[in-house]
Amino acid sequence: MVLRIGIYGFGSIGRLVFQEAVRRGYEVVGVVDIREDIVGRDAGVVAGIGEYGVEVSSEPYSLVDSDVVVHATTSFLDEAYDQLVRVIEMGIDLVSTCETLAYPYYRYPVLARKLHYEAIRNNVSVIGSGINPGFLLDTLAVVLATTVTRVYKIEAIRSLDASKRRESFRKKIGIGLEPRVAREKLGSRELTGHVGYAESVYLVADALGVELERVDENQEVVVENGVVKGIRGYGVGYSNGRELIRIEFHAYTGAEEYEEIRIHGKDYTVTWRSNGTLGDQGTVAVVLAIAEKIKDYPPGLLTITDLLPFKPWIEI
Ligand SMILES: NC(=O)c1ccc[n+]([C@@H]2O[C@H](COP(=O)([O-])OP(=O)(O)OC[C@H]3O[C@@H](n4cnc5c(N)ncnc54)[C@H](OP(=O)(O)O)[C@@H]3O)[C@@H](O)[C@H]2O)c1
Repeated sequence: MVLRIGIYGFGSIGRLVFQEAVRRGYEVVGVVDIREDIVGRDAGVVAGIGEYGVEVSSEPYSLVDSDVVVHATTSFLDEAYDQLVRVIEMGIDLVSTCETLAYPYYRYPVLARKLHYEAIRNNVSVIGSGINPGFLLDTLAVVLATTVTRVYKIEAIRSLDASKRRESFRKKIGIGLEPRVAREKLGSRELTGHVGYAESVYLVADALGVELERVDENQEVVVENGVVKGIRGYGVGYSNGRELIRIEFHAYTGAEEYEEIRIHGKDYTVTWRSNGTLGDQGTVAVVLAIAEKIKDYPPGLLTITDLLPFKPWIEI
Protein backbone atom coordinates (compact mmCIF):
# COMPACT_ATOMS: atom_id res chain seq x y z
CA MET A 1 0.00 0.00 0.00
CA VAL A 2 1.26 3.49 -0.83
CA LEU A 3 2.39 5.46 2.21
CA ARG A 4 0.21 8.53 2.83
CA ILE A 5 2.24 11.38 4.21
CA GLY A 6 1.23 14.67 5.81
CA ILE A 7 3.68 17.55 6.13
CA TYR A 8 3.39 19.97 9.05
CA GLY A 9 5.62 22.99 8.36
CA PHE A 10 6.29 23.81 4.71
CA GLY A 11 9.58 25.71 4.94
CA SER A 12 12.89 24.51 3.53
CA ILE A 13 12.76 21.03 5.05
CA GLY A 14 9.02 20.49 4.54
CA ARG A 15 9.38 21.32 0.84
CA LEU A 16 12.35 18.98 0.44
CA VAL A 17 10.36 16.25 2.18
CA PHE A 18 7.52 16.90 -0.25
CA GLN A 19 9.79 16.69 -3.31
CA GLU A 20 11.39 13.44 -2.14
CA ALA A 21 8.08 11.91 -1.06
CA VAL A 22 6.57 12.58 -4.49
CA ARG A 23 9.71 11.26 -6.22
CA ARG A 24 9.43 8.02 -4.21
CA GLY A 25 5.79 7.58 -5.14
CA TYR A 26 4.30 8.26 -1.69
CA GLU A 27 1.01 10.11 -1.59
CA VAL A 28 1.18 13.51 0.11
CA VAL A 29 -2.35 13.94 1.48
CA GLY A 30 -2.01 17.18 3.42
CA VAL A 31 0.35 20.11 3.90
CA VAL A 32 0.11 22.63 6.76
CA ASP A 33 1.84 25.94 7.29
CA ILE A 34 0.92 29.35 8.71
CA ARG A 35 2.72 31.55 6.19
CA GLU A 36 0.16 33.78 4.50
CA ASP A 37 2.12 33.86 1.24
CA ILE A 38 1.74 30.09 0.75
CA VAL A 39 -1.55 29.15 2.45
CA GLY A 40 -4.16 28.32 -0.23
CA ARG A 41 -1.54 27.66 -2.91
CA ASP A 42 -0.85 24.29 -4.55
CA ALA A 43 1.89 22.57 -2.50
CA GLY A 44 3.60 21.24 -5.63
CA VAL A 45 3.87 24.72 -7.08
CA VAL A 46 5.23 26.10 -3.77
CA ALA A 47 7.77 23.26 -3.67
CA GLY A 48 8.78 24.01 -7.25
CA ILE A 49 7.71 20.74 -8.89
CA GLY A 50 4.46 21.84 -10.55
CA GLU A 51 0.78 21.31 -9.72
CA TYR A 52 0.06 18.44 -7.36
CA GLY A 53 -3.55 18.98 -6.31
CA VAL A 54 -3.04 19.50 -2.57
CA GLU A 55 -3.33 23.01 -1.15
CA VAL A 56 -1.21 24.33 1.69
CA SER A 57 -3.64 24.75 4.57
CA SER A 58 -3.40 26.55 7.89
CA GLU A 59 -5.72 23.95 9.43
CA PRO A 60 -3.96 20.90 10.99
CA TYR A 61 -7.12 18.83 10.49
CA SER A 62 -6.24 18.72 6.78
CA LEU A 63 -3.62 16.09 7.75
CA VAL A 64 -6.31 13.69 8.96
CA ASP A 65 -5.89 11.14 6.14
CA SER A 66 -2.13 10.70 6.71
CA ASP A 67 -0.55 7.42 7.82
CA VAL A 68 2.33 9.48 9.20
CA VAL A 69 3.03 13.18 9.59
CA VAL A 70 6.46 14.70 9.09
CA HIS A 71 6.66 17.77 11.31
CA ALA A 72 9.23 20.55 10.68
CA THR A 73 8.31 23.90 12.17
CA THR A 74 10.59 24.71 15.14
CA SER A 75 13.58 23.57 17.17
CA PHE A 76 11.84 23.94 20.54
CA LEU A 77 9.38 21.49 22.03
CA ASP A 78 7.52 24.15 24.03
CA GLU A 79 6.63 25.85 20.72
CA ALA A 80 5.86 22.57 18.95
CA TYR A 81 3.88 20.92 21.74
CA ASP A 82 0.35 21.99 20.73
CA GLN A 83 1.06 21.23 17.06
CA LEU A 84 2.23 17.72 17.94
CA VAL A 85 -0.78 17.06 20.17
CA ARG A 86 -3.17 18.08 17.38
CA VAL A 87 -1.65 15.36 15.18
CA ILE A 88 -1.50 12.77 17.96
CA GLU A 89 -5.18 13.35 18.77
CA MET A 90 -6.03 12.44 15.18
CA GLY A 91 -4.36 9.06 15.83
CA ILE A 92 -1.50 9.66 13.39
CA ASP A 93 2.14 8.59 13.88
CA LEU A 94 4.57 11.47 13.94
CA VAL A 95 8.22 12.07 13.11
CA SER A 96 9.56 15.56 13.76
CA THR A 97 12.80 17.40 13.03
CA CYS A 98 12.31 19.42 16.24
CA GLU A 99 15.82 19.16 17.71
CA THR A 100 14.80 19.23 21.36
CA LEU A 101 12.34 16.38 20.72
CA ALA A 102 15.27 14.11 19.76
CA TYR A 103 15.94 13.71 23.49
CA PRO A 104 13.10 15.64 25.13
CA TYR A 105 13.73 14.57 28.75
CA TYR A 106 16.63 16.99 29.18
CA ARG A 107 15.12 20.40 28.37
CA TYR A 108 11.42 19.57 28.64
CA PRO A 109 10.90 16.66 31.07
CA VAL A 110 7.33 17.64 31.93
CA LEU A 111 6.24 18.15 28.31
CA ALA A 112 7.95 14.88 27.42
CA ARG A 113 5.89 12.99 30.00
CA LYS A 114 2.69 14.65 28.79
CA LEU A 115 3.51 13.86 25.18
CA HIS A 116 4.25 10.24 26.04
CA TYR A 117 0.91 10.00 27.81
CA GLU A 118 -0.94 11.50 24.81
CA ALA A 119 0.86 9.17 22.41
CA ILE A 120 0.01 6.09 24.47
CA ARG A 121 -3.59 7.23 24.90
CA ASN A 122 -3.97 7.61 21.13
CA ASN A 123 -1.88 4.53 20.27
CA VAL A 124 0.63 6.38 18.09
CA SER A 125 4.42 6.59 17.92
CA VAL A 126 6.13 9.98 18.21
CA ILE A 127 9.81 10.44 17.50
CA GLY A 128 12.19 13.36 17.02
CA SER A 129 15.05 12.89 14.59
CA GLY A 130 16.94 14.31 11.66
CA ILE A 131 20.59 14.41 10.74
CA ASN A 132 21.90 16.25 13.80
CA PRO A 133 20.67 15.68 16.40
CA GLY A 134 19.15 12.32 15.62
CA PHE A 135 21.67 10.52 13.52
CA LEU A 136 25.27 11.46 12.74
CA LEU A 137 26.63 12.38 16.17
CA ASP A 138 24.51 10.02 18.25
CA THR A 139 22.79 7.05 16.57
CA LEU A 140 25.77 6.38 14.32
CA ALA A 141 28.20 6.69 17.24
CA VAL A 142 26.22 4.08 19.18
CA VAL A 143 26.18 1.76 16.16
CA LEU A 144 29.97 2.09 15.80
CA ALA A 145 30.56 1.62 19.54
CA THR A 146 28.85 -1.74 19.28
CA THR A 147 32.00 -3.25 17.69
CA VAL A 148 34.27 -2.25 20.61
CA THR A 149 34.58 -4.66 23.54
CA ARG A 150 35.13 -2.14 26.36
CA VAL A 151 34.27 1.42 25.35
CA TYR A 152 36.07 4.08 27.37
CA LYS A 153 35.17 7.32 25.61
CA ILE A 154 33.19 8.42 22.54
CA GLU A 155 34.07 11.45 20.42
CA ALA A 156 32.10 12.58 17.37
CA ILE A 157 32.70 15.62 15.17
CA ARG A 158 30.63 16.95 12.30
CA SER A 159 32.16 19.70 10.18
CA LEU A 160 30.44 21.31 7.22
CA ASP A 161 30.71 24.20 4.81
CA ALA A 162 27.72 26.30 5.86
CA SER A 163 27.62 28.15 2.54
CA LYS A 164 26.16 24.95 1.02
CA ARG A 165 23.25 24.74 3.48
CA ARG A 166 19.69 26.04 3.10
CA GLU A 167 19.01 29.72 3.78
CA SER A 168 17.14 29.15 7.06
CA PHE A 169 20.21 27.30 8.39
CA ARG A 170 22.66 30.02 7.31
CA LYS A 171 20.40 32.59 8.94
CA LYS A 172 20.13 30.81 12.27
CA ILE A 173 23.93 30.62 12.64
CA GLY A 174 24.32 34.35 12.00
CA ILE A 175 26.29 34.30 8.74
CA GLY A 176 27.09 37.83 7.52
CA LEU A 177 26.34 39.59 10.83
CA GLU A 178 28.71 41.67 12.92
CA PRO A 179 30.07 39.43 15.71
CA ARG A 180 28.62 41.64 18.47
CA VAL A 181 25.13 41.54 16.92
CA ALA A 182 25.32 37.78 16.34
CA ARG A 183 26.38 37.13 19.95
CA GLU A 184 23.51 39.27 21.26
CA LYS A 185 20.99 37.49 19.05
CA LEU A 186 22.32 34.08 20.06
CA GLY A 187 22.07 35.12 23.72
CA SER A 188 18.45 36.25 23.36
CA ARG A 189 17.36 33.19 21.27
CA GLU A 190 16.51 35.48 18.33
CA LEU A 191 19.12 33.30 16.59
CA THR A 192 19.32 29.69 17.72
CA GLY A 193 22.69 28.65 16.32
CA HIS A 194 22.77 24.87 16.44
CA VAL A 195 20.29 23.29 18.84
CA GLY A 196 20.96 19.76 20.03
CA TYR A 197 24.47 19.40 21.46
CA ALA A 198 23.18 18.11 24.80
CA GLU A 199 20.45 16.09 23.08
CA SER A 200 23.06 14.12 21.12
CA VAL A 201 25.15 13.53 24.24
CA TYR A 202 22.12 12.26 26.15
CA LEU A 203 21.02 10.04 23.25
CA VAL A 204 24.40 8.32 23.34
CA ALA A 205 24.49 8.07 27.14
CA ASP A 206 20.97 6.68 27.24
CA ALA A 207 21.77 4.03 24.63
CA LEU A 208 24.84 2.99 26.67
CA GLY A 209 22.83 2.88 29.88
CA VAL A 210 24.98 5.55 31.52
CA GLU A 211 23.76 8.17 33.95
CA LEU A 212 25.79 11.33 33.39
CA GLU A 213 26.89 13.63 36.23
CA ARG A 214 26.47 16.65 34.00
CA VAL A 215 26.49 17.84 30.41
CA ASP A 216 28.19 21.05 29.29
CA GLU A 217 27.35 22.65 25.97
CA ASN A 218 28.47 25.86 24.33
CA GLN A 219 28.87 27.49 20.94
CA GLU A 220 30.80 30.47 19.62
CA VAL A 221 30.66 32.41 16.39
CA VAL A 222 33.49 31.93 13.90
CA VAL A 223 34.65 35.32 12.57
CA GLU A 224 36.64 36.27 9.48
CA ASN A 225 37.45 39.85 8.45
CA GLY A 226 35.09 41.23 11.08
CA VAL A 227 32.07 39.25 9.84
CA VAL A 228 30.46 36.07 11.20
CA LYS A 229 30.97 33.09 8.92
CA GLY A 230 29.29 30.48 11.12
CA ILE A 231 29.55 28.70 14.45
CA ARG A 232 31.55 26.11 16.31
CA GLY A 233 30.17 24.31 19.35
CA TYR A 234 30.32 21.26 21.56
CA GLY A 235 28.49 19.11 24.06
CA VAL A 236 30.33 17.07 26.66
CA GLY A 237 28.94 14.45 29.03
CA TYR A 238 30.81 13.62 32.24
CA SER A 239 30.75 10.54 34.38
CA ASN A 240 32.99 9.60 37.30
CA GLY A 241 34.66 13.00 36.99
CA ARG A 242 35.85 12.51 33.43
CA GLU A 243 34.75 13.23 29.85
CA LEU A 244 32.84 10.21 28.60
CA ILE A 245 31.08 11.59 25.52
CA ARG A 246 32.18 14.59 23.46
CA ILE A 247 30.40 15.82 20.36
CA GLU A 248 31.43 18.82 18.28
CA PHE A 249 29.69 20.66 15.48
CA HIS A 250 31.54 23.07 13.19
CA ALA A 251 29.45 24.91 10.61
CA TYR A 252 31.01 27.87 8.85
CA THR A 253 31.71 29.07 5.35
CA GLY A 254 34.66 27.22 3.88
CA ALA A 255 34.90 24.55 6.63
CA GLU A 256 36.20 21.14 5.62
CA GLU A 257 33.34 18.65 5.15
CA TYR A 258 33.59 15.47 7.20
CA GLU A 259 32.28 13.51 10.13
CA GLU A 260 34.70 11.70 12.37
CA ILE A 261 33.73 9.34 15.15
CA ARG A 262 36.33 7.87 17.49
CA ILE A 263 35.36 5.04 19.79
CA HIS A 264 38.13 4.78 22.34
CA GLY A 265 38.21 1.34 23.88
CA LYS A 266 40.30 -0.06 26.70
CA ASP A 267 41.40 -2.82 24.33
CA TYR A 268 41.47 -0.93 20.99
CA THR A 269 40.14 2.20 19.28
CA VAL A 270 38.00 2.46 16.17
CA THR A 271 38.00 5.63 14.04
CA TRP A 272 35.41 6.18 11.35
CA ARG A 273 35.56 9.15 8.98
CA SER A 274 33.35 10.31 6.12
CA ASN A 275 33.82 12.91 3.41
CA GLY A 276 30.76 14.79 4.67
CA THR A 277 27.00 14.33 4.63
CA LEU A 278 24.54 16.66 2.95
CA GLY A 279 22.59 18.00 5.91
CA ASP A 280 19.31 18.99 4.30
CA GLN A 281 18.96 15.95 2.03
CA GLY A 282 20.27 13.79 4.87
CA THR A 283 17.55 15.09 7.17
CA VAL A 284 14.91 14.24 4.59
CA ALA A 285 16.38 10.76 4.09
CA VAL A 286 16.40 10.06 7.84
CA VAL A 287 12.85 11.27 8.53
CA LEU A 288 11.45 9.38 5.55
CA ALA A 289 13.37 6.24 6.58
CA ILE A 290 11.58 6.53 9.94
CA ALA A 291 8.24 7.32 8.28
CA GLU A 292 8.57 4.07 6.29
CA LYS A 293 8.92 2.00 9.47
CA ILE A 294 7.02 3.92 12.10
CA LYS A 295 3.91 1.76 12.01
CA ASP A 296 6.08 -1.10 13.36
CA TYR A 297 7.32 0.90 16.36
CA PRO A 298 5.66 0.63 19.78
CA PRO A 299 3.31 3.46 20.78
CA GLY A 300 4.58 6.33 22.92
CA LEU A 301 7.23 9.01 22.79
CA LEU A 302 10.38 7.30 21.51
CA THR A 303 13.96 8.33 20.89
CA ILE A 304 15.74 7.01 17.84
CA THR A 305 18.28 5.14 19.95
CA ASP A 306 15.45 3.38 21.82
CA LEU A 307 14.94 1.50 18.58
CA LEU A 308 18.47 0.08 18.32
CA PRO A 309 18.51 -3.66 19.02
CA PHE A 310 21.77 -3.61 21.03
CA LYS A 311 23.58 -1.88 23.89
CA PRO A 312 27.37 -1.41 23.69
CA TRP A 313 29.46 -2.07 26.81
CA ILE A 314 31.04 0.96 28.44
CA GLU A 315 33.64 1.12 31.23
CA ILE A 316 32.82 4.05 33.46
N1 LIG B 1 17.18 17.46 13.68
C1 LIG B 1 17.75 17.86 12.56
O1 LIG B 1 18.72 17.29 12.09
C2 LIG B 1 17.15 19.00 11.78
C3 LIG B 1 17.49 19.15 10.43
C4 LIG B 1 16.91 20.18 9.71
C5 LIG B 1 16.03 21.06 10.31
N2 LIG B 1 15.75 20.91 11.63
C6 LIG B 1 14.80 21.83 12.28
O2 LIG B 1 13.54 21.67 11.67
C7 LIG B 1 12.82 22.90 11.71
C8 LIG B 1 12.35 23.27 10.30
O3 LIG B 1 13.47 23.60 9.51
P1 LIG B 1 13.32 24.52 8.18
O4 LIG B 1 14.68 24.82 7.72
O5 LIG B 1 12.33 23.89 7.27
O6 LIG B 1 12.69 25.85 8.82
P2 LIG B 1 11.85 26.95 8.05
O7 LIG B 1 12.35 27.09 6.65
O8 LIG B 1 11.84 28.16 8.94
O9 LIG B 1 10.37 26.31 7.97
C9 LIG B 1 9.50 26.20 9.05
C10 LIG B 1 8.09 26.47 8.53
O10 LIG B 1 7.14 26.15 9.55
C11 LIG B 1 6.22 27.24 9.62
N3 LIG B 1 5.58 27.28 10.93
C12 LIG B 1 6.01 27.89 12.06
N4 LIG B 1 5.12 27.72 13.03
C13 LIG B 1 4.09 27.02 12.50
C14 LIG B 1 2.84 26.56 13.03
N5 LIG B 1 2.46 26.81 14.28
N6 LIG B 1 2.02 25.87 12.20
C15 LIG B 1 2.37 25.62 10.92
N7 LIG B 1 3.53 26.04 10.38
C16 LIG B 1 4.38 26.74 11.16
C17 LIG B 1 7.10 28.44 9.36
O11 LIG B 1 6.35 29.62 9.07
P3 LIG B 1 7.01 31.06 9.48
O12 LIG B 1 8.18 31.24 8.57
O13 LIG B 1 5.91 32.03 9.26
O14 LIG B 1 7.43 30.93 10.92
C18 LIG B 1 7.90 27.96 8.16
O15 LIG B 1 7.19 28.07 6.95
C19 LIG B 1 13.81 23.94 12.29
O16 LIG B 1 13.55 24.13 13.65
C20 LIG B 1 15.15 23.30 12.08
O17 LIG B 1 16.13 23.75 13.00
C21 LIG B 1 16.29 19.90 12.37
